[in-house]
Amino acid sequence: MPIIKILPPDLRNKIAAGEVIERPASVVKELIENSIDAESTSIRIDILNGGKKLISVSDNGIGMDREDALLCFERHATSKLKSEKDLFNIKTMGFRGEALPSIASVSKVTLITGLKDAPGISISVHGGEIREIKDSPSAGTSMEIRDLFFNTPARRKFLKSTGTEVFHIIDTVTREALSHPETGFLLNCDNQEVMNLPAASCIRERILQLYGSEFLDGLVEATHSEDSSSASLRESWKESETTLSAFVSNTATFRNSRAHQFIFINKRPVKDTSISHAVYRAYEGILPHEKHPVFFLFLGIDPEKVDFNVHPAKREIRFADKESVYQLVLGNLREAIRKERDAYVKPFAESPETIQAPTSMYGITEAVVSASSDSIVSENLELAYKPLLPSLYLGDTFFAVSGKGGLTLIDHHAAHERILYERLLTGMASQSSRLLFPRQVRLSSREYKAILENTSILREFGIEADDFGHDTVLIRSLPEALNEADIRGILSDIASCIIKGIPPDKSLRESLAARIACHSSVRGSRVLNQEEIANLLEDLEQTRHPDQCPHGRPTRIFLSLDALKKMFRRK
Ligand SMILES: Nc1ncnc2c1ncn2[C@@H]1O[C@H](COP(=O)(O)OP(=O)(O)OP(=O)(O)O)[C@@H](O)[C@H]1O
Ligand SMILES: [Mg+2]
Repeated sequence: MPIIKILPPDLRNKIAAGEVIERPASVVKELIENSIDAESTSIRIDILNGGKKLISVSDNGIGMDREDALLCFERHATSKLKSEKDLFNIKTMGFRGEALPSIASVSKVTLITGLKDAPGISISVHGGEIREIKDSPSAGTSMEIRDLFFNTPARRKFLKSTGTEVFHIIDTVTREALSHPETGFLLNCDNQEVMNLPAASCIRERILQLYGSEFLDGLVEATHSEDSSSASLRESWKESETTLSAFVSNTATFRNSRAHQFIFINKRPVKDTSISHAVYRAYEGILPHEKHPVFFLFLGIDPEKVDFNVHPAKREIRFADKESVYQLVLGNLREAIRKERDAYVKPFAESPETIQAPTSMYGITEAVVSASSDSIVSENLELAYKPLLPSLYLGDTFFAVSGKGGLTLIDHHAAHERILYERLLTGMASQSSRLLFPRQVRLSSREYKAILENTSILREFGIEADDFGHDTVLIRSLPEALNEADIRGILSDIASCIIKGIPPDKSLRESLAARIACHSSVRGSRVLNQEEIANLLEDLEQTRHPDQCPHGRPTRIFLSLDALKKMFRRK
């Protein structure tokens, strides 16, 4: 007896929905992309209960006539592909004709749509079945999705808390908004405005709207276009040439997590490990261990040379020539980062008229003395004349101290991290002072929500943060140790730690203290003077674990005279 059966259409749709619709954010993505394909200039998204109760997306696009509105819920119904040839030359966000039937099969949908100056239509669909059709005036399209997964309880169970689903939705809107700066976006969650992004003139302006000017100041821009006279191409693509427009961390704004790393190809947010790898390689020798760059990469590639039909949700891509895209990203970013780095290190590297300092009584050539009056240089080199502690800087992160039968190499950044970390945990650093001028810190919408939900923990560390509206928090108090720190970076890192969840072996307090300490400690670029070195060593000695920073990296390495003798084969 035959055992193979063709599945009924309802079940087929539910299986297909499983591939495309993972959670409310996937619905938001598909609906926004439909609105973009419909040439909308303004898209409004309303969410109730993290999208579990309602997802509504309204646009001012071209709309649909009655016939199309009835057809759009059918599987493989699309206006975007006409022939097989089009499949290898995709210029629209959608092309599979799958999103609406998938969404409709697992929710209760109301579509209201109409062409300009024509009577519109309203269609209600429950679990894929049409329930009601009415006339309804409309220009543009509005889709209301209620009770997602109401008929697939197993999938509904996988949905997370309202807060988590909202985070994913904000993330999705952020990606779509970055890839389409010319479109305005408004996102309301539970009747509260979460994002309001008017149409922007370029990517830079959209990044500014999303993250604020302080964030943008920490980024380096790199562009590549064979036709350099045409600046507008950078945000688009043109047949037969590859364009790149990138905004990436400068050498002073690395993060502890992979937050804010985006790749867009032909205005489509994608994931691609090889392009990410090219970005990290561009920072080779500059990126500290366990640090991550922020990056926004916008690539424009001839649609015939890239295949988007790889992943059901179109998140992955296949390139005809992967190597050349890799080299283009690597080459352009490396150059931009090198230029920025050169401008940054110049004051440290310049040695106008230098004389060799005498070898110290401890046997270490201490430093080079400069006759320059440049403040940074002369201040650093003062230590050559202060034989308080015999120390020598190696690069701008390590210094060596001799004594007690050997030589100790210290990573001043890691040492400072350990000291601050323990102070934060014991409450010593939390004696905060009220700022004379409270600081406004603009965050991304996700970060903003995470910070506001955790202000009590921040208070334990002496950081007092208030809601200032529009993704901005107001910092009223800070511990002294954080006065000069990059407070935006700290808040952003704290938020990403909260969003990602903490490792099982650490408490939230420990995880956050480690992140704050990392930011506020001496940056690799600042060289300590002799007195500061002495204080740092004394403070380090007082900590419970002076040999390791909170991330487990060594703070100091001791080379005994014995070990040195062995190395020189004197033993
Ligand atoms: N907001 C909208 N405005 C105008 N037309 C729309 C809108 N949303 C959907 N449509 C029409 O409905 C069709 C079906 O949409 P659906 O999202 O299911 O498929 P698609 O966008 O063609 O492909 P994909 O499954 O890859 O998203 C679209 O091709 C488009 O013609
Ligand atoms: Mg679509």
